[in-house]
Amino acid sequence: MKKMKIKIDDTEIEVREGQTILDAARIAGIEIPTLCHSDGIEPYSSCMVCMVRDKKRNNFIPSCTALVQEGMDIDASGEEVIALRKKAVTLLLSEHRAECEAQCRVVCPMGYNIPLMNRLLIAGEYDEAAELIRSEMKGGELNCINCKAFCVNACRRKRIDTPVSIRNIRIFLSRNLPETPKYEVSPLYSENDVRKRFASRIGALDATEQLEWLKECPDKVVRHEEIAGFKEAAEEAASCMHCDCRASSGCRLRELAEMFSIKDPRGKFINTPVIKKINHKTGLVFENAKCIKCGLCVRAVADSTDEPALCFINRGFVSMISEPLTVEFDDIPALVAKKCVEVCPTGALAFFNENNGT
Ligand code: SF4
Ligand code: SF4
Ligand code: SF4
Ligand code: FES
Repeated sequence: MKKMKIKIDDTEIEVREGQTILDAARIAGIEIPTLCHSDGIEPYSSCMVCMVRDKKRNNFIPSCTALVQEGMDIDASGEEVIALRKKAVTLLLSEHRAECEAQCRVVCPMGYNIPLMNRLLIAGEYDEAAELIRSEMKGGELNCINCKAFCVNACRRKRIDTPVSIRNIRIFLSRNLPETPKYEVSPLYSENDVRKRFASRIGALDATEQLEWLKECPDKVVRHEEIAGFKEAAEEAASCMHCDCRASSGCRLRELAEMFSIKDPRGKFINTPVIKKINHKTGLVFENAKCIKCGLCVRAVADSTDEPALCFINRGFVSMISEPLTVEFDDIPALVAKKCVEVCPTGALAFFNENNGT
């Protein structure tokens, strides 16, 4: 293939015809942020986070799809380029009706990872749940014992019926730790980071959207205010609606917001509906309001023989990721679900018990 030379940020780079500007930047060790790009998947340029400026033409182009041309002179780090990337991330966040952290964790003075504890209990991983508590106790006493239970007060479940009995579950677990540590279970990041990190906010939810959150709970939950055993703890944990984000420690969108020091935009486009879909066979969870419509999940399985795969339905603003209209979300097979979760750059696609810190 024909070789040529281009410049990125005044560095001369030898490239081959057919390579993208992003490829060229990587050869030279120049970092260009990306969001909707994943190596090995056909690029589609939807997020505009990888924009660069063609200095000769004075126009902006997405580096993940724009091909190199002989003599190109590219600005990949100037002020205008950074401003455009920031704008792209801000736009995505303005229709992102989701919370990186659950309210129960945000108000906890210790930043204890309550949703993670609930997921471990629901999965029947009692020892792991107890080990999470042990690691959060850091060799001292559990703060919950002397706390006014801010978490219970903030729990979103109280808008449906009664809050999850978080404090009592935690105290029970702290008194029933395995004698010797069996597993290492991490709360994923420290209490300081819970408040310091970028946090997307969901804004007001209407009554229908509130019910979408309930989809994560079994139809019938057995509630226990007092917790006398692991079974009761797990039954009570099942009433948790998982209003945190399973991608909170690895979300690319969150990382980019932090990289560009972006605050969550005030006021969100209310036309991004909060819709949840649960695949009861594979545990795949789809949350529409966390989806940036990058299409990676669609393209990742485009050549796969495992049917049915995910696709876009509707057009324009109301387009969304969905199962094909002729099947149910439960019909998305395990292999497709796995590939889609792997490539999703946000928490829009995850497995129910994912992010369990074990
Ligand atoms: S998808 Fe990312 S930005 Fe959105 S709520 Fe989850 S962690 Fe936060
Ligand atoms: S429903 Fe679950 S995740 Fe949400 S605030 Fe209550 S305990 Fe936390
Ligand atoms: S579900 Fe994830 S991978 Fe699929 S379009 Fe949305 S953000 Fe992209
Ligand atoms: S990474 Fe290039 S447009 Fe999204």
